Amino acid sequence: MFTPFELGSLRLPNRLAMAPMTRSRSYVDGIPSPLAPLYYAQRASAGLIITEGVQPSLAGQGYINTPGLHTDQQVAGWREVTDTVHAAGGRIFVQLMHAGMVGHPDNTGDIPLAPSAVRPDGVQIFTPSGPQDLPVPREMTIEEVEATVRDFAAAARRAVEAGFDGVELHGANGYLIHQFLSQNVNLRGDRYGGSIDSRIRFAVEVAKAVAEEIGPDRVGIRLSPLNGAQGLVEEDAHELYPALVSALAELDLVYLHLIATGGDELNARLRDLWPNALVINDPAGTDPAGTAAKWLEWGADMVSLGKAFLANPDLPLRLRLGAPLNEPDLSLAFGGDHRGYTDYPALALHPVPQPAAV
Ligand SMILES: Cc1cc2nc3c(=O)[nH]c(=O)nc-3n(C[C@H](O)[C@H](O)[C@H](O)COP(=O)(O)O)c2cc1C
Repeated sequence: MFTPFELGSLRLPNRLAMAPMTRSRSYVDGIPSPLAPLYYAQRASAGLIITEGVQPSLAGQGYINTPGLHTDQQVAGWREVTDTVHAAGGRIFVQLMHAGMVGHPDNTGDIPLAPSAVRPDGVQIFTPSGPQDLPVPREMTIEEVEATVRDFAAAARRAVEAGFDGVELHGANGYLIHQFLSQNVNLRGDRYGGSIDSRIRFAVEVAKAVAEEIGPDRVGIRLSPLNGAQGLVEEDAHELYPALVSALAELDLVYLHLIATGGDELNARLRDLWPNALVINDPAGTDPAGTAAKWLEWGADMVSLGKAFLANPDLPLRLRLGAPLNEPDLSLAFGGDHRGYTDYPALALHPVPQPAAV
């Protein structure tokens, strides 16, 4: 856990990544919160920080008050974040997240775009008036699919301008890239739907375009086989993910961030197929130290932790000392002010006892 790791050109002091977490605290216009530099810099002792999901285009926004990376003002806001994190000794990748069908006109002013005009049953999204069913999205034209690939590349270019050390493509948890992989919400009859080769095409094209834009040693991708998020169905995951990971491996991306939801057999197969760094996130993990140790021993190069980093700005130190952990208050996860964001305390180390004066 505490041995250094070379990730592309970065030297990480430990194997612990802060997992991406949406916090819905950005300003209007998708500019990161003025507290975001402090929030991320407090967590600079992570081997790698991965930011909250950030939309590569206006159409990519799904939830309320999420930040973007498609305007100059957003770049300027993120520049403050990266400068503050670097000054605190940290390293930071931005997660590029296009939410696809997971959006609502009450949040974004528009009908969400998706591979097909279908919605899974019973999936809801939080809006200003409370949880609502996802609306039926609008099917992207082939020109819109191609433009979205270019939007990811443009956002990656802006990420570098903003000072990020790299980008993570969000291919997990039921958002746009994952939607293209699925069988129930991707019903396209063109080259982006149908066979496995066609359903992985969007993910591979995005990864290729972004790698060509900023270099593969600055690009990672997150996947969550079979996690069923947002009602996605993936009956052929045992064939699809090996095909996808093999295609991504040819692009020489710097890391695969795998959410370990595919089961032992698929996890092991993907480890075998992936030559570069593998970051594991285990949503079933309960104790962060035990979870990290278990997966590093299994063969992961790094482990990402979400809620534990949310509540413990100095998590690596606490794990190293076996110190107690703050508990996350998830009622303060999304939206709001500094409470539940920048006010989790670091360890108060006792002053060294001084000998009594003689
Ligand atoms: C408040 C919150 C927001 C999250 N937002 C994102 C996100 O923007 N992108 C993403 O890939 N995962 C997101 N996740 C999932 C986490 O990255 C992680 O996979 C999950 O919390 C399980 O890991 P943990 O048990 O260590 O927290 C979020 C999780 C939480 C708790």
